[in-house]
Amino acid sequence: MPQPHDHCDHLPGEHCPGDHDHAPRLVPPPLSLYVHLPWCVRKCPYCDFNSHAAKGELPFEAYIDALIRDLDQDLPLVWGRVVSSVFFGGGTPSLFPPEAIDRFLQAASARLRFAPNLEVTLETNPGTAEHGRFDRYRAAGVNRISFGIQTFNDEALKRLGRIHDSGEAERAVKLAQDAGYDNFNIDLMYALPQQTLAQAEHDLERAFALQPTHLSHYQLTLEPNTVFFAKPPQGIPDEDSAWDIQEHCQRMLAEAGYAQYEVSAYAKPGRQSQHNLNYWRFGDYLGIGAGAHGKISSGAEEHVLRRWKHKHPQTFMDTAGSAASIGGDDVIDAPRLPFEYMLNLLRLHEGFTLKDFESRTGLERAAIATPLQAAIARGWMTLDGDHARPTELGRRFTNDVVELFLP
Ligand SMILES: C[S@@+](CC[C@H](N)C(=O)[O-])C[C@H]1O[C@@H](n2cnc3c(N)ncnc32)[C@H](O)[C@@H]1O
Ligand code: SF4
Repeated sequence: MPQPHDHCDHLPGEHCPGDHDHAPRLVPPPLSLYVHLPWCVRKCPYCDFNSHAAKGELPFEAYIDALIRDLDQDLPLVWGRVVSSVFFGGGTPSLFPPEAIDRFLQAASARLRFAPNLEVTLETNPGTAEHGRFDRYRAAGVNRISFGIQTFNDEALKRLGRIHDSGEAERAVKLAQDAGYDNFNIDLMYALPQQTLAQAEHDLERAFALQPTHLSHYQLTLEPNTVFFAKPPQGIPDEDSAWDIQEHCQRMLAEAGYAQYEVSAYAKPGRQSQHNLNYWRFGDYLGIGAGAHGKISSGAEEHVLRRWKHKHPQTFMDTAGSAASIGGDDVIDAPRLPFEYMLNLLRLHEGFTLKDFESRTGLERAAIATPLQAAIARGWMTLDGDHARPTELGRRFTNDVVELFLP
């Protein structure tokens, strides 16, 4: 619990409007746990995630052992803090048998304090959904599923190198629903090679029919170090056509009751991803597993630390639990904090309060007064009392807005 300052009643991080003068204190925000599971059946040609095509039997047990050693090593960073969400991301976490996920969650709950309403999400490739698995993921404690469907157009799925067709995607969702999952996300991508507006519209209609509580709607990007980047596929919609698709889909999503709360995230009321919201609100997270990134605030040391692990699964397994598994540690210094904060917060429609800015960075609100005024003057942001928000125009030019906050 934060203690009040000894010269006033304000808690560290609270703004003191009185005549006494002191810097805000960094207050550790909510804490999440990200767990990276790095293998896939096959590598998709557009994907730059730390994911590797599985060759032969996967070392599930050895990897879970490595995850537990990795968690043990990071525990001193978060002693006593409550974890509010867990996210198994990949790669394809659904390649891991439910028993392996169960063993990790049991080990984690013996080491960390889990919140009573803990959100536990598992990313699932529909091509790996076997009958009976979802019951066992549920029994292990997974209470939210995220399906990577991308599109319901079978030709497009082939062009994207996916291992499933649209029928399998629908069956996977139904299997999860039969196992009692009502809280689930569907990932779709748009601006796909040769995609028409009507096809993007049809993708949303097929998704709505499955009644997900959450939809992630990503524009396909050509990422360096991918097959698509080296050899772009024919017929990628140009910027104007991609914008038309996006605007049209945003309207459809709103009409179907999915409120946009982030650049690519839409949810039914109360069904936002708590895990992702915590990232975007500049919350804290432990990153466990090959290539995982974490961000942890230390109230005592008054700093924000970023830590990442070795990317390669075998190197990670060989070194997990020792300093050699750490790819890097980076304390974000004060001049960089406003930019890092804005990079996340300006993705959110809700914006942020200046009080939260102070408690999550430990900086005075004065540190962003100039760029904030510049953003307001350009019509990119509004400030209503303590509450700053991006405008619709600002959301179109997020990169430009964030750049104003560079050191
Ligand atoms: C880790 S994957 C999800 C789970 C699983 N690996 C799968 O693909 O089914 C995360 C999501 O990021 C999105 N994604 C990956 N690469 C992308 C790209 N180049 N452009 C846009 N979205 C991308 C996809 O929608 C994908 O489902
Ligand atoms: S299945 Fe998912 S993580 Fe794996 S390569 Fe494809 S998009 Fe990337």
